[in-house]
Amino acid sequence: MNVENRPGGAPAPEACREEIKATQSSAADMARDILRLKKEKDAVILAHYYQRPEIQDLADYIGDSLALARIATTLPNKVIVLCGVHFMGETAKILCPDKTVIVPDTSAGCSLADSCPAPEFEAFIKEHPGYTVISYVNTSAAVKALTDVVVTSGNARKIVESFPADEKIIFGPDRNLGNYINSVTGRSMLLWDGACHVHEQFSLEKIVALKKEHPEALVLAHPECPKHLLMVADKVGSTAVLLDYAVNSPAREFIVATESGILHKMRQACPDKTFIPAPPNDSTCACNECSFMKLNTLSKLLESLRTLSPQVEVDAAIIDRARRPIERMLSLS
Ligand code: 13P
Ligand code: SF4
Repeated sequence: MNVENRPGGAPAPEACREEIKATQSSAADMARDILRLKKEKDAVILAHYYQRPEIQDLADYIGDSLALARIATTLPNKVIVLCGVHFMGETAKILCPDKTVIVPDTSAGCSLADSCPAPEFEAFIKEHPGYTVISYVNTSAAVKALTDVVVTSGNARKIVESFPADEKIIFGPDRNLGNYINSVTGRSMLLWDGACHVHEQFSLEKIVALKKEHPEALVLAHPECPKHLLMVADKVGSTAVLLDYAVNSPAREFIVATESGILHKMRQACPDKTFIPAPPNDSTCACNECSFMKLNTLSKLLESLRTLSPQVEVDAAIIDRARRPIERMLSLS
């Protein structure tokens, strides 16, 4: 906590001030070591917008899942450190199999990806012969290997619309994104019943209460939110789309219904605008964090550069099958 920002403006006690100084200097030491090791090991750091602020500030590139996949294919470095969740590391490894790909904490999973186990998804596909399979990037490599084309929240609409209107499509695993794409395209894709625990948690009542307090505020929502939340949103889009919208909008206040990590970049990009995190149903919490994304810390990032581990490994046969639908996405978007 910044000394100046203590609740009530009360000065920090001496012991507390010392602790804050020690934490700040050890963070500065770690940042310096990370930058040194990055050069020594020919590594590049990619970070998702939901990463901790101190990681975003050290990253070479920050982006949504589409941008991170795209950037990974263009880099000359031997080592890619993907500060995000495991499926993002897998996507980079599938696209760049000869590179060392590291996620500082490989137990950083994703509840949405976990809601779609490959064997069950395969059985679902077999029950519906003749369907084109479109999968959201928030899936395991094994699910991508069962897929015709991958999408992200940034390109899902465009890619679905690239198919003929009568194409029979299975869309997995996010039912909220699938419902949203069905509603804006007029399609009736068959949806896998998965969801993200973070985006399902936002409270409509609390957002409505915030709107009463801040009547001029615009509501920004990620399409992983359920329909009742998207209905009150002024803008629906991927993390990058929401950031871009906030930067270019003449509005001064925004209520942001996606993981709260994005607020760091929004506040950096628009220091004169106000960003209010949409609260979850859980009354103890003012903002909504993805605990998986937050598993990556500065000290784990440093350790991963020191040891070049933990590396993301994907079975060669899966890489062979998962690469084509990801490359198809990149060429369609
Ligand atoms: P983006 O594709 O918008 O970066 O979202 C990824 C994600 O995990 C959302 O929860
Ligand atoms: Fe997965 Fe949800 Fe976390 Fe995104 S916010 S990484 S969808 S669990």
